[in-house]
Amino acid sequence: MTANAVEVQNLQKSYDGVEAVRGISFEIRAGEVFGLLGPNGAGKTTTVEILEGYRRPDAGTVSVLGIDPRRPTLDWRERIGVVPQSGELYPNLTVLEHLRLFAGYYAQPRPVNEVLELVGLEEKASAKTRTLSGGQRRRLDLGVALVGDPDLLFLDEPTTGFDPGARRAAWETIRSLRSLGKTILLTTHYIEEAQRLADRVAVLRRGEIVATGTPAELTGVAPASRISYRKDGERIDLQTEDPTRVLHELTGEALRGGARLEALEVHRPTLEDVYLSLTEETE
Ligand SMILES: Nc1ncnc2c1ncn2[C@@H]1O[C@H](COP(=O)(O)OP(=O)(O)O)[C@@H](O)[C@H]1O
Ligand SMILES: [Mg+2]
Repeated sequence: MTANAVEVQNLQKSYDGVEAVRGISFEIRAGEVFGLLGPNGAGKTTTVEILEGYRRPDAGTVSVLGIDPRRPTLDWRERIGVVPQSGELYPNLTVLEHLRLFAGYYAQPRPVNEVLELVGLEEKASAKTRTLSGGQRRRLDLGVALVGDPDLLFLDEPTTGFDPGARRAAWETIRSLRSLGKTILLTTHYIEEAQRLADRVAVLRRGEIVATGTPAELTGVAPASRISYRKDGERIDLQTEDPTRVLHELTGEALRGGARLEALEVHRPTLEDVYLSLTEETE
């Protein structure tokens, strides 16, 4: 038994000349929420589907719960829960019927009432799927992934298209799954989602990992702080590694001259600044 739930080394995948994943390596520790963060087309879904055993890699080695997903076993499948980027549900089945149907595939399913509660769909138990809102459907997708009581969950953009309230509710669900000891691979293009949920993040850009670390580590290597103010109606922006000294000089000079630094602001780099500096196209 290794301590890592997932190990990926030098993974590569192309589609007819499109290099979707270009030799990425990372590991996910048991019990952590790992965020794969990147813009559309970065290679997130390709990576996740290889780990799920739904696509074959061209090169590299992959181990998921100690198994090569190219040779899945039934027992392995039962330990994995998948929420695909767009799930397929039966429009005329109710929420409860869905969960019962999928529970039937597992030797030891999690009780469907618990699943309903985890995903916050108790009140919708007898509603047909076609009457659910987009956010409720997404929660049912998650419920379907949870009925098998998996150890490892793959969530591919679980909150894309959610309004802010639904997103916060989904984050709560993901946090409660983490506290149940689940290992979670979450893909997202929302920086805030990665920052709030993930223990560690890998930033994916055009099929390559351009940074890995905790959100705090990533902001620690961030570009410099920015100081901005207005002078004679003109906005001045300064980048500095030493904001204390620069502020002292600026404000000292202003006070001596009896001037004011209008609209003075100091920006500490956020994960968003780091993400944008890593993923912005330069060409
Ligand atoms: N089945 C496919 N056939 C051809 N190209 C694909 C296929 N799936 C993904 N791609 C391409 O691979 C790249 C990565 O896609 P994807 O893994 O879906 O990224 P993400 O999930 O980060 O948006 C994109 O350029 C996409 O157009
Ligand atoms: Mg995707």
